[in-house]
Amino acid sequence: MSFRIQPTAPARPNRCQLFGPGSNTKLFPKMAASAADVINLDLEDSVAPSDKDAARANVIEALNTVDWGSKYMSVRINGLDTPYWYRDVVDLLEQAGDRIDQIMIPKVGCAEDVYAVDALVTAIERAKGRSKPVSFEVIIESAAGIAHVAAIAASSPRLQAMSLGAADFAASMGMQTTGIGGTQENYYMLRDGEQHWSDPWHWAQAAIVAACRTHGILPVDGPFGDFSDDEGYIAQAKRSATLGMVGKWAIHPKQIALANQVFTPSEQAVTEAREILAAMEQAKANGEGATVYKGRLVDIASIKQAEVIVAQAELIAQSG
Ligand code: COA
Ligand code: MG
Repeated sequence: MSFRIQPTAPARPNRCQLFGPGSNTKLFPKMAASAADVINLDLEDSVAPSDKDAARANVIEALNTVDWGSKYMSVRINGLDTPYWYRDVVDLLEQAGDRIDQIMIPKVGCAEDVYAVDALVTAIERAKGRSKPVSFEVIIESAAGIAHVAAIAASSPRLQAMSLGAADFAASMGMQTTGIGGTQENYYMLRDGEQHWSDPWHWAQAAIVAACRTHGILPVDGPFGDFSDDEGYIAQAKRSATLGMVGKWAIHPKQIALANQVFTPSEQAVTEAREILAAMEQAKANGEGATVYKGRLVDIASIKQAEVIVAQAELIAQSG
């Protein structure tokens, strides 16, 4: 480990982020009643240009009036390349009260994008005497975003989460895909004439996880477009969890339970982690740095791996 201790990510559950268009007010009470940890009310790409003003007003009204319970409330603003984003930030910060927890900035391409939003948010918070600082999450969904991911992860103390947005990412990279996430037909290896599909999102996810973990930020997997394909969603989510991501978006309510299932450590995994910690306590008492658990080596690194699982389970249990 470096002399600089790796910071821990914010201690709140972020297994599922449920999206809904700000223009579709009838979804809001359903989103509030869902089992998602985070709600993302969208002002960006699920809202038509002609609906931008109405959607912004709807979202502010819903933040102020709907009972969102203990949900972490995030609003996705429009991108910095649009004429809408400054009005999104100003109206949200001036009118939405304290129930807004987070602003999601889409299509972030460099650290300065985050700096610009931070400057505006900070000025409004001071002018209005807001006591609760708004946090940020960003979407990495462009070639520039992934090229500058490490600088973006270090861009602001407000930054708490970072997602991979597969569809815009694929478009920006010039990838020959049209699906939103998941297995891609043409991304395979051949062995003895048989096709074995590989994961084209892997490297971007791993880069995001590394940048996030360096700076104490939650790495999150973005949307999976085919909401009829539960198995495909679960497979994608399991790969993300294995790589260190803490959650995934839902763009339809049926994906919420799938995300919660994958990103909640199983009882068996938690039991095993606790047993590894106990075995290592015993080893320490015997003056050993390594021991054997179920026929395999466990050592001081295993303590850290096991602690991640136990901490995650405790966090989720506490959140009810
Ligand atoms: N949150 C909460 N409830 C939702 C929902 C959401 N995002 N999407 C759909 N529902 C509700 C529907 O209102 C319906 O409720 P009902 O049984 O009371 O009538 C039920 O879930 C089943 O919905 P269904 O008919 O299968 O879907 P739909 O045709 O109404 O909507 C989408 C499909 C994709 C248009 C819709 O799910 C949606 O807008 N998703 C979010 C898109 C988004 O925000 N994208 C931006 C991020 S990529
Ligand atoms: Mg996008």
